[in-house]
Amino acid sequence: MPFQSNSSDAKSIKIVVVGAGSVGVTTAYALLLDRLAADIVLIDVDKNRAQGEAMDLSHAAHFAQARVRVGDYEDCAHAAAVVITAGVNQKPGQTRLDLVKTNYALFKEVVPRVAHHAPDTILVVATNPVDVLTHAALQLSGFPVERVIGSGTAMDTTRFRHELGRHFGVNPRNVHAVILGEHGDSQLPAWSLASISGMRLRDYCEAAGVEYDEAALEGCARRTKEAAYEIIRRKGKTNYGVASVLVSILQPIVTDSDAIMTVSRVGAYGGVEDVALSMPCKLNRSGAYQDVPLRLSESEQQALRQSALSIKEVLDSLEDQPCVLEDQQYSLRAEL
Ligand SMILES: NC(=O)c1ccc[n+]([C@@H]2O[C@H](COP(=O)([O-])OP(=O)(O)OC[C@H]3O[C@@H](n4cnc5c(N)ncnc54)[C@H](O)[C@@H]3O)[C@@H](O)[C@H]2O)c1
Repeated sequence: MPFQSNSSDAKSIKIVVVGAGSVGVTTAYALLLDRLAADIVLIDVDKNRAQGEAMDLSHAAHFAQARVRVGDYEDCAHAAAVVITAGVNQKPGQTRLDLVKTNYALFKEVVPRVAHHAPDTILVVATNPVDVLTHAALQLSGFPVERVIGSGTAMDTTRFRHELGRHFGVNPRNVHAVILGEHGDSQLPAWSLASISGMRLRDYCEAAGVEYDEAALEGCARRTKEAAYEIIRRKGKTNYGVASVLVSILQPIVTDSDAIMTVSRVGAYGGVEDVALSMPCKLNRSGAYQDVPLRLSESEQQALRQSALSIKEVLDSLEDQPCVLEDQQYSLRAEL
């Protein structure tokens, strides 16, 4: 039976988090604070650690009228969504793409198991490199495209709005601006569409009598792109921002509310076929079900194509690696 989404009935909502590490447990905690689900299940190879986290979270769950427990893949059945955060993390100086081989091998183990027990669920991928692994999760699950969502540049878009909000002295929620493409080094800010108070940035600056400072704005985009490197250099990981972003992706799924978010989905972008990257999408209980059209400038279109090509190059390097699970052989590009 597919999950029944009903915003007034959190009782029926189960969310599974695969990977009870830093991102996974912070996401579970953010879910509790948001009261989005009544049943939160943690799955991890390190059962002992997951058990400890579940025990600790259960005491917070007391206040949210929810339960947090350790489970196994059969507990994915009837989950509204399964969030995948399992995998190795960047070390200082590593790019997200450096993680690909290890985390792709892990996905070959995890995703078919989730799909087997929860054929109607929605996969939300956070593990890096998130675009490459969103593509892998689609292939390994055999799910329709709208039910495999990468957190993608939802994180970068949040950071970008934070930077622009600080620059212009306005609440980041009142800044409309998006980061597109890879959740990684080839991402691009859609400057031509950025607006405050319904005005493009140049018009806003003119109306508000402030300088349109191109160098300062480029600094906002650079700090957005480099934020994770900076945080990892200082504290070894990122967890709070991404956990809140994951909950903001789960919200429209659980409440069926047609939010527009920049998330990663498999499609054709900038003339590059069969690649996953982030563009604005509409999300509801069906998943990331509809692209939102954008009119990008010529140079932005070129940058989007370059971003798609760089992700595609990594995908191609993974092609034909066999996937072995319980005597079944899958090929990444084979139909399941
Ligand atoms: N998308 C984003 O914006 C974003 C932000 C931060 C981190 N991340 C990514 O999230 C991933 C996790 O980061 P983290 O800081 O939580 O790492 P972590 O090391 O704290 O946690 C990873 C967890 O995965 C578990 N695990 C490993 N193999 C597993 C398997 N086969 N099945 C189930 N569980 C398994 C480990 O036991 C561990 O508990 C990394 O790939 C990281 O790069 C993504």
